[in-house]
Amino acid sequence: MDKKQPIGVLDSGVGGLTVLRSLQRILPAENFLYLGDTARAPYGVRTRETITAFVAQMTDWMEKNRVKLLVTACNTITVLGTDVIRGSHSFPVIGMSKGAELVGKVTKNKRIGLMATDFTVGTGAHRKEIREADPETEVFGVGCTKFVPLIEGNRFDSPELKEAIAEYADALKEKEVDTVILGCTHYPFVREYLEESFGPGVTIIDPAEATALAAKKNLEERNLLRTEGRGQCTVCFTGDVEQGRLLAARMLDTGSCRFEKVSL
Ligand code: DGL
Repeated sequence: MDKKQPIGVLDSGVGGLTVLRSLQRILPAENFLYLGDTARAPYGVRTRETITAFVAQMTDWMEKNRVKLLVTACNTITVLGTDVIRGSHSFPVIGMSKGAELVGKVTKNKRIGLMATDFTVGTGAHRKEIREADPETEVFGVGCTKFVPLIEGNRFDSPELKEAIAEYADALKEKEVDTVILGCTHYPFVREYLEESFGPGVTIIDPAEATALAAKKNLEERNLLRTEGRGQCTVCFTGDVEQGRLLAARMLDTGSCRFEKVSL
């Protein structure tokens, strides 16, 4: 492998762009190859078997495109387990951080909310890691199924989104949480609405930066970190590229990205 090879970043849709933003900030000289399976999003309501089959197609595509590292910028995919994701491919895989260390630094009452897909909440992966770090911490998960279709559909000002924000935030307010983890990479797209709904007493945690730092560490350890020049970015979607570009503009400097439609 060599330093010029791109870092692959994948998600079911546009959510992983919120992680790509952090990766580009922390690793400005790297080349990135993003793949969002927008034609088949959301993944979080599907079975483990289906998600695993879709992910195998995406990782095969990443192998063909010779990535030096893969960041699964999707919690639903991450909780399948890095061994399942990597399969027999040659690149290492960095999954989404679950925010356990971040939570410990922030919470005062040790009551944590987790907003994620049904699949992610159902695996209990976040709860397990957070309670391993501090067994006294309580974690309350809410499957926020309505968010991804509304975000992928660019329906930010819709009454449906407002209602969904209120519904899920209220469920966690009832549990008196003081910290909320965004356990789905799509949710930073609606972070402002969530902050408004929770108010200043609740800290919202986005594990994107911790994930990007883990990617950097991996490249440093393998002597594959690129530090000179300005990196390039190619963003690929399996669905409508114009819609993807529009949503990407909320997260990235799209002027410097190339957009492509691909099939898996
Ligand atoms: N962005 C994804 C995550 O972090 C998945 C959303 C979905 O496809 O359901 O979980």
